[in-house]
Amino acid sequence: MQGRIFSGIQPTHGIQLGNYLGAIRNWVRLQDSYECIYCIVDQHALTTVHDAAEMRRNTREVAAALIASGIDPARSILFVQSRVEAHSRLAWVLNCVTPLGWLNRMTQFKEKAGKHKENAPVGLFVYPVLQAADILAYRATHVPVGEDQKQHLELSRDIAASFNRRFAEDFFPLPEPMIQAEAARVMSLRDGTKKMSKSDPSDMSRINLTDDAETIASKIRKAKSDSILGISYEPEARPEASNLLSIYAALADRERADVAAEYAEATFASFKEHLAELCVEKLSPINAEMRGLLANPDHIDAVLADGAARAEAIARPIVEEAYRLVGFR
Ligand code: TYM
Repeated sequence: MQGRIFSGIQPTHGIQLGNYLGAIRNWVRLQDSYECIYCIVDQHALTTVHDAAEMRRNTREVAAALIASGIDPARSILFVQSRVEAHSRLAWVLNCVTPLGWLNRMTQFKEKAGKHKENAPVGLFVYPVLQAADILAYRATHVPVGEDQKQHLELSRDIAASFNRRFAEDFFPLPEPMIQAEAARVMSLRDGTKKMSKSDPSDMSRINLTDDAETIASKIRKAKSDSILGISYEPEARPEASNLLSIYAALADRERADVAAEYAEATFASFKEHLAELCVEKLSPINAEMRGLLANPDHIDAVLADGAARAEAIARPIVEEAYRLVGFR
C-alpha cells in the first residue's frame, strides 16, 4: 500500500455528476493501491441542512451511492463523521492553532455566506478546520478531491504544520491533494462558467446519480450550447462546449483531444445524443444498484456501523496522542 487516503463527501442533496467524476470514481480506483478511508461528513452538512429527516435520508442515500459506485466496504472504511468523536475532539485543538486570518481568506466561505456574512453560522466559518481534523485524525497522506477543495487542502497542510511546529515535529504528515485532471471541475449544464453543484436551485443544471435515463437524456439535450459548428475544447471562448466535451472524455475514459477530434465537425444535436447515451450507459447500473441498496436500509446501517468502529480504532489513539502533546493528558 502506497499510503493512507482520506476523503469526504457531504450528505447535502444527492450526489451529482461532478462529485462522481471529480472525486468518487477516483476513490474507487485508489482502493487497489492505498488504504482508503471514506467519510460521509454529516457534521459539515449541518452547516446548511437543518432538517433531521433530510439529514438521515441523505446520509443513507450517499452511502448507497458510494457503494453502488464501487466503494467496497470490505476493503475500504466507509463511515459517517458524527459517529466517530475523534473528528470534533481534534477540531477544537486545531481551532486553537489556526489564525483567524487564514480562515478569512477562504473563498468557499465567502461564496456560501454571500452578502449576509453576519448571519452565516460560525460552523460554516470553521468548516475548513473540521475538514483538516478529518484528515489529520487518521494521519492520512493523500486526499483525492475535485479542484474546488484545493484551497481547503492547502489550509489543512498549513494547520498540520502549525500544530507540528508548536507541539511535535512531524506528528502530522502534510496531506497531499490528488486532483483528477480530466474532470477536476465539472461545470453546470446551464452555465459553463459555474461549478456543477448540489446547491444550484436549478435541477436542470446538474445530473444526479438518482436521475433516470429519460431525465438524464433530457437534461443533456437541453444543456446550454453555442452556435459554433463542431465541438472543441476552448474553456475561455466556449465554456459549455468544453464542459460537455470534458464530461464525455471523463465518462468514456478517453483523452479530451481524442474526443474533440472525433466530434470536430459534429453538430451539437448529434454530439449531445451520443453524450446522453454514454451517460445513461455509465450511470444506469449505478442507479439500479443504488435502488436495490436503499430498499434495505438495515444493511446500509450495518455497513456504516462497522466502518465507524474501524475508523474509531485508527483515529482514537492518534487524537489521544495529540491530546497528550498539548497537555490534556
Ligand atoms: P462536497 O460534498 O462538496 O463534494 C464531494 C467531492 O466532490 C467534488 N466535487 C466536484 N468535482 C468536480 N466538479 C464538480 N462540479 C464538483 N463538485 C463537487 C469535491 O471537490 C469533493 O471532492 N469539503 C468537502 C468535504 C470534506 C472533505 C473532508 C474532503 C469534508 N472533510 C476531508 C476531503 C477531506 C466537500 O465539500 O465536499
